[in-house]
Amino acid sequence: MIRNTQIFVHDEVQEFHLTNAQVSYIFRVNDQGKLLHLYYGAAVADRDDFGYLVEMQRRTTAACPIDGNHSYSLEHLRQEFPEYGTSDYRMPAVSIAQGNGSRITDFKFAGYRVEAGKPALADLPASYVDSADEAQTLSIGLVDDLTGATVTLLYTIFADIPVIARSVRVTNAGTEPLDIKRLMSLSVDLPDDDYVSTQLTGSWARERSIIRHHLHPGIQQIGSLRGSASGHVHNPAIALARPDANERQGDVIGAAFVYSGNFEAHVEVDSFSVSRVQMGIADHGFTWHLEPGESFQSPEAILAFSQQGYNGMSQAFHDLVRRHVLRGPWRDKERPILINNWEATYFNFDEDKLIAIASKAKEAGVELFVLDDGWFGQRNGDTAGLGDWTPNAERLPDGMNGLAERINDMGMMFGLWFEPEMVNKDSDMYRNHPEWALNTPGRHMSQSRNQYVLNFANQEVVDNVFEQMAKVLSSANISYIKWDMNRYITEAYDASRGVKHQGEVFHRYILGMYQLNARLLEAFPDLIIEGCASGGGRFDLGMLCYSPQIWTSDDTDAVERMSIQYGTSMFYPLSSMGSHVSIVPNHQTNRVTTLTTRSNVAMFGTFGYELDLAKLSDEEFREVRHDVAFFKQYREVIHTGDFYRLLSPFESDPRDSGKMAWMVVSQDKHTAIVGDYALLQHPMSPFSRLYLQGLDSEAQYEVSVFGGASSIAGMEFSGDELMHVGMIDSDASTGSSSGEVSDANDLGESHDFDSRLFVLNAR
Ligand code: GLA
Repeated sequence: MIRNTQIFVHDEVQEFHLTNAQVSYIFRVNDQGKLLHLYYGAAVADRDDFGYLVEMQRRTTAACPIDGNHSYSLEHLRQEFPEYGTSDYRMPAVSIAQGNGSRITDFKFAGYRVEAGKPALADLPASYVDSADEAQTLSIGLVDDLTGATVTLLYTIFADIPVIARSVRVTNAGTEPLDIKRLMSLSVDLPDDDYVSTQLTGSWARERSIIRHHLHPGIQQIGSLRGSASGHVHNPAIALARPDANERQGDVIGAAFVYSGNFEAHVEVDSFSVSRVQMGIADHGFTWHLEPGESFQSPEAILAFSQQGYNGMSQAFHDLVRRHVLRGPWRDKERPILINNWEATYFNFDEDKLIAIASKAKEAGVELFVLDDGWFGQRNGDTAGLGDWTPNAERLPDGMNGLAERINDMGMMFGLWFEPEMVNKDSDMYRNHPEWALNTPGRHMSQSRNQYVLNFANQEVVDNVFEQMAKVLSSANISYIKWDMNRYITEAYDASRGVKHQGEVFHRYILGMYQLNARLLEAFPDLIIEGCASGGGRFDLGMLCYSPQIWTSDDTDAVERMSIQYGTSMFYPLSSMGSHVSIVPNHQTNRVTTLTTRSNVAMFGTFGYELDLAKLSDEEFREVRHDVAFFKQYREVIHTGDFYRLLSPFESDPRDSGKMAWMVVSQDKHTAIVGDYALLQHPMSPFSRLYLQGLDSEAQYEVSVFGGASSIAGMEFSGDELMHVGMIDSDASTGSSSGEVSDANDLGESHDFDSRLFVLNAR
């Protein structure tokens, strides 16, 4: 069933039906002016009246806002924009404190508007469209008569991806000041609780493990109160899947936040099994003061729905990110293969050492050299220099331009590390402006990594950092910056504002950080900004509006990276995942893996190196050249193709050798690359096959093997066979050992963490 994007409005029954070929989202206004949620899921045909979906029944103990009507209680209705205190006891989408201390509001429908395209959100990053036919937007107006406050709910449905973007704007159209205490960007009441929830949880160097549980009564919540970041702990995204869903099939709803600061995402299951899903700025410590005439715009939340399981949901997010979130020239241009000096030198470098690393990388075919931390101020270690963004003349005797020219002369692009939001106590910036660091008057300032967070809620601070960065970026041909952020906020207080605004500091901080990104990209539109926050501490849709790629984790160990990248792929595309080959023993885990496996994992990302290639053997260096050439050949497929997770490292079967596999298929389905990885060897494992996905069932694919060996190399199979019969993968490099030390098969004995890539080309 193919239908165009359409927002059906049935004025007679005040019903709204947002739909495209894949999804339907339906709600209505009742006779009390309240918005009731009716349906969200697979596309259904429109009808004049979905009113039968409003289920009401007398419930003893219910509070009833209509005198004498005992079956009408907001606690028992599924809503779109719930409030607390007028008969609903669940978590509200909004809470506004008024002059008399009351927080009761009663927002009622006041009108709607449908427009082609998608409006931008003031001061906030959001998904966007290139042309008005790519989406339609419905705005719903609500008003609270007593305070005069108004609300605009924005719903955008995209034309050919199963995605709806939502946000909320509150305006104080009354005469007295108001304080917003809670405002969710998204609230939806699903009719039952038979869902398995997925969250991406972890820590520094162990980001985004896939954690699942069945919904249970009460509130289940993830979030961040870390101020400067969505954080390493919980990614701002959740999925709710029917229990029979898996990677290939079944209904899955995904929700992700286009925001990088404090957030909460929760599901509240009530005693009648209704599941209220909400996502928004965390309300802890949050207050936004609105004088009459002022507005507050919430960040955007994205809803995606798929009937094709988790992979289908992920592909919806990947498509959205690649077409409607990333922007600027690097959205569509091939990303350069880079080499970064951090793990090669840490702070111990001078210009000649950098040039030596870069020239060896150039010989391998690498395209961009990135100078990491340590090039500025008195930054000889991590205790000094942050805030002083002037090149260190001892390390770079000919200045930034001198180094950039030497790199450019080799035929490579040049990139530079910054940590714009931070300051060390031992810096000229702090000595001159101690008041620019976030600090509560009279309180101790906690340090983290020997540094403080600058008050990006203060425009003067953002302006200063912009000017310093713009000066460096104008002084040399710099194509890329790695924008790092290495600590969370403590003792938050905005010294540039008064008492009424202290609940705004975290959000204003994030707005200042976004503003600096936007201004830099406006001034230097060809810049690639690679996001980073001690690795993957700020991997979210907000940052992706500025950074086409984000350093996925400080953990560069290939085995750890299998899980980290696998989890990250749940919501974010391969082209957004910064991934490097590093030295062994690995600096985070001491683990030794083969160069082949390190490369085979890093290829499923932006791809690059973070080591001194001169320290490799000649044979390894030849392999690097080969890998770089391979990646260049298939980079477009990897970054623009459809990605499928095949075997999860989080769910490996203890009887077999423990596997992880994923694949990417070009949009025309002519080419596919399958990454096949062994975890720990167990002798005498079962035979195994990979059931491929997304191929053209009628095409004949020739299989070649890159990095590793396989008995099926050179054979041909139909797409049907590869998807339904399966592709034999227990034969060689990732297969099982026989349990006898000397028993090598023709293709070589297999080891822990062996891997290989299969390349399938349709003939
Ligand atoms: C953070 C980043 C690293 C590196 C260092 C430099 O930890 O995540 O990649 O840039 O800072 O200090």
